[in-house]
Amino acid sequence: MASLTVRQLDDSLKRLLRLRAVRHGRSMEDEVRVILRQAAEETGREAAEPTEPSAAGAQPAAAAPSTGLKRVLLIIGGSIAAYKSLDLIRRLQDRGLSVRCILTGAARHFVTPLAAGALCGERAYTDLFDPQSEFDVGHIRLARDTELILVAPATADLIAKMAGGHADDLATAVLLATDKPVLIAPAMNPHMWAAKPTQRNLVQLQADGVRLVGPNAGEMAERGEAGIGRMAEPLEIAAAAAALIRHGGALTGKRVLVTSGPTSEPIDPVRFIANRSSGKQGHAIAAAASAAGADVVLVSGPVNVPDPPETCVVKVETARQMLEAVEKALPVDAAVFAAAVADWRPQRVSDSKIKKQKGRAPTLELVENPDILSTIAHRKSGRPPLVVGFAAETDHVVANAKAKLVRKGCDWIVANDVSPETGIMGGDVNTVHLVTAAGVESWPPRSKADVARALVEKIAAALEETKR
Ligand code: CTP
Repeated sequence: MASLTVRQLDDSLKRLLRLRAVRHGRSMEDEVRVILRQAAEETGREAAEPTEPSAAGAQPAAAAPSTGLKRVLLIIGGSIAAYKSLDLIRRLQDRGLSVRCILTGAARHFVTPLAAGALCGERAYTDLFDPQSEFDVGHIRLARDTELILVAPATADLIAKMAGGHADDLATAVLLATDKPVLIAPAMNPHMWAAKPTQRNLVQLQADGVRLVGPNAGEMAERGEAGIGRMAEPLEIAAAAAALIRHGGALTGKRVLVTSGPTSEPIDPVRFIANRSSGKQGHAIAAAASAAGADVVLVSGPVNVPDPPETCVVKVETARQMLEAVEKALPVDAAVFAAAVADWRPQRVSDSKIKKQKGRAPTLELVENPDILSTIAHRKSGRPPLVVGFAAETDHVVANAKAKLVRKGCDWIVANDVSPETGIMGGDVNTVHLVTAAGVESWPPRSKADVARALVEKIAAALEETKR
């Protein structure tokens, strides 16, 4: 294969590559490898650089997964409410969605393409006749390469243009060219909202299948003005967008159980045994499964990360409570055990605080906790069709994970190296190996959200396969 270095690329390509790499939490070189591998797979050729060799004689589990992000195309219109759209980008990303932005000319008076692009992790699009945009994706691809188009804020003018089928700038051309669902979050002065032309246009848009979120009643940016016309809050808009996307997602109709976080095993009322698990990976998996349409039960130990939206969260402390909650959540179609369960607990829990006695340190006697993953994977009845465990290792990651797969009786193991120098425990990036009976797939470093989405894609594909 001809050698290629990132340095040889032209500046604009380099910049796009850098943005893409940052978005996926990879180095630029790794990003190039992923792009090449995907391109090779698409054309049915062998990947240029095979990942870790699979088990002797076994077929690789599958090709390295694409990141499989569900995308929202956010069109930001020109209203003071545009400042909230920057927060909206984050709220959409929290829901496991990838966001691409178009700013209208008027929007650029309120927020910059740079700010929107930095939050999205890719350039924000602005001009219909920008050769660079057309070269990168083109307005037709912008219109189609998305699950949903979200217009927020949707100004009275943008609404009028949509209703009239105008296409004189990038935003309106994309809206006219799309075959995807469109959700608008109107924002305007109460008089403009109540005006007959606006109301007529809204009736037309709704008849055309466009959905609305908001506007809400409240104070306007202009002093002394109040009424209906405030753009809905970012959380509300993100929830409406996610609900539209969930419907028809790859896991619609499936029930998924996820365990996450550490367990906390009490010694006395103030002391406990725990571990460094942050719950970020498990929670991201629950969020991604929910975004894919699954009915998700998340059983979580004590964590400091927010509950993923639209999941049923059962909060527990100890391993025994976690097992009980997991058993209650059955039956499920897939169970992912991402929790770092304490292997042992103190045999006796003191009812009162153990007092310090000079020169005499107490001895902690430990007993083994139930192995939740193994218990569920070995169930004779009610075993989930797909059981996925994690392996937190510091040495011989893949070898230990393979042994764990057999010992625990699960279908897949997601193995990661949790040595302190990897920064994986508590960090935002993860490098995992997916170990199955068929072989090992080594994924490049990715954000935990991307690992979650890729894993959820695999789960959806595997469940689909079991139907055949
Ligand atoms: N696990 C579990 N219950 C336990 C211990 C672990 O359900 N009591 C699950 C974890 O959620 C994870 C998998 O088992 O999916 C592997 O956990 P890990 O901590 O890597 O392995 P251990 O079984 O604890 O073995 P070791 O500590 O020896 O590596």
